[in-house]
Amino acid sequence: MRMLRGGSRSADCLPTRSVAYAGRHRTAHLLLPSNGPPLTRDAPIAGTQRELTFRFLAEPGDVNFGGNVHGGAVMKWIDQAGYACAAGWAGTYCVTVYVGGIQFERPVRIGQLVEVHAQIVLTGTTSMHVAVTVSARDTTAEGAERTTHCLMVFVAQDAQRRSIPVPAYTPGTDRERELAAYARDIMRMRKDIEAARRDFLARYPG
Ligand SMILES: CC(C)(COP(=O)(O)OP(=O)(O)OC[C@H]1O[C@@H](n2cnc3c(N)ncnc32)[C@H](O)[C@@H]1OP(=O)(O)O)[C@@H](O)C(=O)NCCC(=O)NCCS
Repeated sequence: MRMLRGGSRSADCLPTRSVAYAGRHRTAHLLLPSNGPPLTRDAPIAGTQRELTFRFLAEPGDVNFGGNVHGGAVMKWIDQAGYACAAGWAGTYCVTVYVGGIQFERPVRIGQLVEVHAQIVLTGTTSMHVAVTVSARDTTAEGAERTTHCLMVFVAQDAQRRSIPVPAYTPGTDRERELAAYARDIMRMRKDIEAARRDFLARYPG
């Protein structure tokens, strides 16, 4: 592994996860240290790289009482990939404001190769809608299966933790337009869910 610009320590010393960014203009490979900012070979990526994929093995430490990966571990992966995608697009720190439609379709087994794919599908003024899909396969077999999917919304913030505008994303293909429409649909449904939730909490505040 080569020494990378942007950090004083060799990347060899750090536990890392490989992250591939596929952007409209270029592809960059970053090494994410577990305890510091990304070490990058490139200039800032704000507004250029709208998707990324985490790839790693499901570890024994992620196990639940049934012997598969804990749902909470899957949600953490989703939040991390969604965050890295949104922060990369915004070029700044972001907070999660909404996670919707999460569905655990099938379990992830310990030892499987996991892929967590996150992509910007819609942007507002300060918000970014990120579709996240988790897939898994045995290391010795082809054909990863989708295990979980959800839509997240992140808001970009400055150093004073104020919400700030993000680069606008314009869907360019039919599939990208479909994904943007899907995000708008989920947002419409979110308003109904929020109304039901408000009503319930007003009646049962405890
Ligand atoms: C996210 C937060 C900063 C937004 O505050 P704000 O900027 O004053 O709120 P606004 O109402 O102006 O909304 C900002 C954006 O978020 C969007 N948003 C707000 N609530 C939302 C929700 N429930 N679902 C989807 N989007 C939402 C708004 O539509 C707006 O988007 P736009 O600028 O693209 O139009 C604030 O709600 C917050 O701090 N939430 C807690 C975040 C957190 O702790 N996350 C967990 C750990 S990271």
